[in-house]
Amino acid sequence: MPIERTLVIVKPDAVRRGLIGEIIGRFERGQFAVRALRMVHLTKGEAEGFYAVHRQRPFFESLVSFMVSGPVVVMVLEGAEAIARVRKIMGATDPARAEPGTIRRDLAESIERNAVHGSDSPEAAAFEISYFFAELDAFPG
Ligand code: RTP
Ligand code: MG
Repeated sequence: MPIERTLVIVKPDAVRRGLIGEIIGRFERGQFAVRALRMVHLTKGEAEGFYAVHRQRPFFESLVSFMVSGPVVVMVLEGAEAIARVRKIMGATDPARAEPGTIRRDLAESIERNAVHGSDSPEAAAFEISYFFAELDAFPG
């Protein structure tokens, strides 16, 4: 199983509700190592740049205003098959459709306020890690 790095964000809804530790704990118990971590209150431009792949989507403006509504915690997690496994621990985008025991099913409020972000491909992980942690190589080893 390849060791990968992926970018995770604890979103403003989860920070506001005091769920930073709960969410990081689930990843640590899932055999991930935290390689970098920072709290940041994104500017509109930073949020737009981060989610640029979604700029044509109908939910883009709402997503950006949600992501700047309070501080977030950005982190790089490392572990075996990290990209796919983090997504599995997070659960589906819509908490109502997420598997029981996933972060979103257990903790998220809505399809938008869904507590957590995780990179969805190696290309996205490389872009997203360099977006927040320019000093860190996106690839472990
Ligand atoms: P993420 O990128 O945050 O890890 O989430 P995801 O892959 O599961 O979902 P994606 O399709 O990439 O959407 C990014 C984020 O946009 C918000 N969203 N709102 N109102 C809506 O229908 C809607 N759909 C998506 C969510 O915050 C979602 O995580
Ligand atoms: Mg996504």
